[in-house]
Amino acid sequence: MAGISKILENNKQWVATKNAEDPQFFKNLANGQKPKYLFIGCSDSRVPASGITGTGPGEMFVHRNIANLVVHSDMNLLSVLQYAVEVLGVQDILVVGHYGCGGVAAAAANKQYGLIDNWLVNIRDVIRLHEAEYLRIKDDGQRARRLVELNVMEQVRNLAKTNIIQNAMRGDNPPRLHGLVYDIADGVLKDLDVHGDDMMADMEHIYATEAVTKAPDKDASSYEGPKHDPAKELVAEKKGAVEKK
Ligand code: CO
Repeated sequence: MAGISKILENNKQWVATKNAEDPQFFKNLANGQKPKYLFIGCSDSRVPASGITGTGPGEMFVHRNIANLVVHSDMNLLSVLQYAVEVLGVQDILVVGHYGCGGVAAAAANKQYGLIDNWLVNIRDVIRLHEAEYLRIKDDGQRARRLVELNVMEQVRNLAKTNIIQNAMRGDNPPRLHGLVYDIADGVLKDLDVHGDDMMADMEHIYATEAVTKAPDKDASSYEGPKHDPAKELVAEKKGAVEKK
């Protein structure tokens, strides 16, 4: 058996196993989700979110992309983040990198790979930010592993820069941010012990923003609003047309 038939057969067996373990399993899941975790990981097939964390259906909201990046123009990531934080109320956000990441390795090489170069440039930015430390590592393997860690740390920092996380941090149930690295070679998940609030401390003079709750003071801005209001003009035009009749 190969291809999709194998997948469908596996699914049948999984459904049977789950129902045998707990006849209410699917009924409970159908009632809704309240996951405690958001997992932001690499798309690499060797890093399955639920498998390496021992979580089952309903426990973890997941976003994966090449090299587990948090990019501020990525509508997909931002939508997942906002929904996870503001609607689902996840308590822990895990950025999970992995040693042996092909995306990170490609970024470290000075070769073109096509469209993906524009995605990988985010990792090249990580190299630039940590260039002194990165170049000081002479061993190729160690340098590659360190870049995976630096990338995870920088992505946690990127999370902390978003207005979604900044606003959530001021709320009643601020989520905790974590940077983790998974080792494909032994299956171990390591906590890099980086946290959003610590990271924010040394960059908040640049990135901290506050939600504007009232319209800015008119005197404080030279902008006086639109010169004309098309909606009002349309009404006036129609009125004129009616009066003319
Ligand atoms: Co990867």
